[in-house]
Amino acid sequence: MSGEPGFDLQGRTALVIGGTSGIGREIALGFQAAGARVFVASSSAGKVERAQRELQQRDGSARGFVADVREAADLQRLADEVEAVATVDVLLNAQGTTVIKPALEFSAAEYAKVMRTNLDGVFWACVAFGRRMVARKRGTIINIGSLASFRGWPNSSVYAMTKSAVVSLTESLAAEWAASGVRVNAIAPGFFMTDMTRDRMSAERKARALARTPMGRFGELHELVGAAVYLASASAGFVTGATIAVDGGYLATGI
Ligand SMILES: NC(=O)c1ccc[n+]([C@@H]2O[C@H](COP(=O)([O-])OP(=O)(O)OC[C@H]3O[C@@H](n4cnc5c(N)ncnc54)[C@H](OP(=O)(O)O)[C@@H]3O)[C@@H](O)[C@H]2O)c1
Repeated sequence: MSGEPGFDLQGRTALVIGGTSGIGREIALGFQAAGARVFVASSSAGKVERAQRELQQRDGSARGFVADVREAADLQRLADEVEAVATVDVLLNAQGTTVIKPALEFSAAEYAKVMRTNLDGVFWACVAFGRRMVARKRGTIINIGSLASFRGWPNSSVYAMTKSAVVSLTESLAAEWAASGVRVNAIAPGFFMTDMTRDRMSAERKARALARTPMGRFGELHELVGAAVYLASASAGFVTGATIAVDGGYLATGI
């Protein structure tokens, strides 16, 4: 077959977990602009309602779902609820949290919160939705990694552990599910100002991030959408296990 498969997501349904703010919200809107029917999920009912209202301005069939990814059973319930409405062709896992502090000062509760949200929550979401995709022999999953998947960051040890594991999980599931027609990829964003970073990164940490980023600026959220739409689309039909960095050159740079 010749010609471009293109980036059209018409006829697909995409679920963005963590799609109610920041990076996930922007990608959810981008999926919608590319033609997909979009569902979002997160733990705060207020944020879910706001995001649903916003998405429904373009497509009345958009839906929001409340789910806490720290509970595997809640993800199972989410999968049952969402799939009762529509078959999920694209799952994007944008859920995440962080605690920025030295490893020596971490409490067990802080450790558990970051691990359960960023790692357990991504694994069990992949399993809950991936099980159905594998059975249908069709579907694609996109996980959100980080520059911390690849580099050591002071005061972010637990976050970095989860994010390097998300890349490892992406590669392992890609290898496991390729023969079943399910692609699994990741995006590693550079620094973007969101609820997770805007007030939580100190001025000094932001300055260090900017100094370390060759383009010398933070990313704009819309600059992440193209990578997500590409990975979700037929154009990426032979791409699995990949992590695309959208980072202003951070990972490419040695000094
Ligand atoms: N901002 C950056 O520079 C950057 C860089 C690299 C990677 N990332 C990653 O990008 C992803 C999105 O982060 P963001 O920067 O856009 O921050 P954000 O605006 O705080 O978004 C986090 C999303 O995750 C959801 N979430 C958090 N805990 C949850 C839980 N227990 N159950 C279900 N949903 C939960 C939040 O909704 P609720 O509060 O309603 O639960 C929200 O929708 C994260 O995985 C983050 O690690 C961000």
